Amino acid sequence: MAGAYILGIESSCDETAASVVYSGERVVSNVIFSQIAAHQPYGGVVPELASREHLKAIVPVVRKALADAGQTYQSIDALAVTQGPGLAGALLVGIGYAKALAFALDKPLIAVNHLEGHIHAVLLEERQKKNREMDFPVLALVVSGGHTHLYLAEQREEHWSYQNIGHTRDDAAGEAFDKVAKLLALGYPGGPIIDRLSTHGDPTAVKFPPAQLKHRDRKDKSDGTEGPRFDFSYSGIKTAVLRYVEVHDMRTSIEARRKALSMIAEPRLEDYLLHCDRKTLDLVASFQRALVSDLVMKTLAAARACNAATLFVTGGVAANNELRQRFEQDAAMEGLPVYFPSRPLSTDNAAMIAAAAYPKLLAREFAAMDFSAEAGMALG
Ligand code: KG4
Ligand code: ZN
Repeated sequence: MAGAYILGIESSCDETAASVVYSGERVVSNVIFSQIAAHQPYGGVVPELASREHLKAIVPVVRKALADAGQTYQSIDALAVTQGPGLAGALLVGIGYAKALAFALDKPLIAVNHLEGHIHAVLLEERQKKNREMDFPVLALVVSGGHTHLYLAEQREEHWSYQNIGHTRDDAAGEAFDKVAKLLALGYPGGPIIDRLSTHGDPTAVKFPPAQLKHRDRKDKSDGTEGPRFDFSYSGIKTAVLRYVEVHDMRTSIEARRKALSMIAEPRLEDYLLHCDRKTLDLVASFQRALVSDLVMKTLAAARACNAATLFVTGGVAANNELRQRFEQDAAMEGLPVYFPSRPLSTDNAAMIAAAAYPKLLAREFAAMDFSAEAGMALG
């Protein structure tokens, strides 16, 4: 098959996104409508609200993705949509619309796992830079608001296979960023603001004990066929931050900040800095340092144990500056090449869905018309 233009649609969480990607190697358009403003007053994503916002946005977002790409409904070669994991009601909006379009236009429809999409965001980024050489196996850390997963990925011709070798036992890393930000009245989502505030604090000021993983994961196979696992846990550090806030009497200053920031429509970094004392900045920087160190250390231990030849780091938290620097530094010391998507392709987007669909189009792996959303969809 010659090259193909795929229209990707993504609606698994709080971003309504559509994109046209050429042959898994070139982003022709990439439209992302973020619902952050709608969810911000609640300090997190409200599922019903997300579905309603997707319903409002999906048609204009898809239209804009086609227009930006200079394409029409008729000119695209295939459609791709996120099947899961994610919020069921949110996923259904994208799936329903993609199915209707595919049926009306008589075009092939491809169902994509959101986590596979995050992995293909890295490949898409590298192909755009004309880098097509990747050594296998690839170890991919998918780290976002909903996931902290390690996958060993292999490619045989058009077929990609994934083996999960680690995941979080409780909170995802991005969830920890979001919950700590909420606790400290720093708004939603927490990752970007903690990232920026951290450079203003002392990351060695507060010591957090390393995460303890005492019990084997219930999801492990007990027949001994599974190799070593590299699991994560981030609910402990969140509780440690809460305890620190209580022991150091930070409630009053948090409430003062909440009030002050609520009066500003779109607070900028300077506004946050004005309302954060040294203790808060040190706490935030130390939290980020502890979380990043744990992610990097465990991922590199997994890479050594699995003889990974290449490392991918992807998902919303992969936008974090300290995480990128630490991975670049520490992986280089081990002679391990590490790749990230650009920041717009790190957080949720539809280009990664269209890119992951391309090998499936070549393999003619099309979705059955009766497929539905899979909120807890696993990869591999
Ligand atoms: O991949 P994503 O857009 O959605 C999910 O699939 O979850 O990731 C969103 C998550 C949020 O938890 C957000 O706080 C986090 O990624 N995030 C960051 C940064 N930018 C986004 N975390 C740390 N540093 C950042 N710069
Ligand atoms: Zn995601």
